Amino acid sequence: MPTASDREPRVVRVVPGGPVLVEGPVEIVTPDGECVSSDRFMVAVCACRRSRNYPLCDTSHRKKVRSTDDD
Ligand code: FES
Repeated sequence: MPTASDREPRVVRVVPGGPVLVEGPVEIVTPDGECVSSDRFMVAVCACRRSRNYPLCDTSHRKKVRSTDDD
């Protein structure tokens, strides 16, 4: 069994204004302790908290947020 030092570094890519892309498989532990598993090759973890499938990105970050300012 490979040790931590034998493995290649896992690539984590932060998408500006979007998710954090992590090479899978992963187990994500949410702030409330829920554990979500994904065995996808690349997993998009929501960083905006707008996903209806949190902690996984559902592309809701792409939707415009309605401004409440009176410009
Ligand atoms: S980063 Fe995509 S929905 Fe939050």
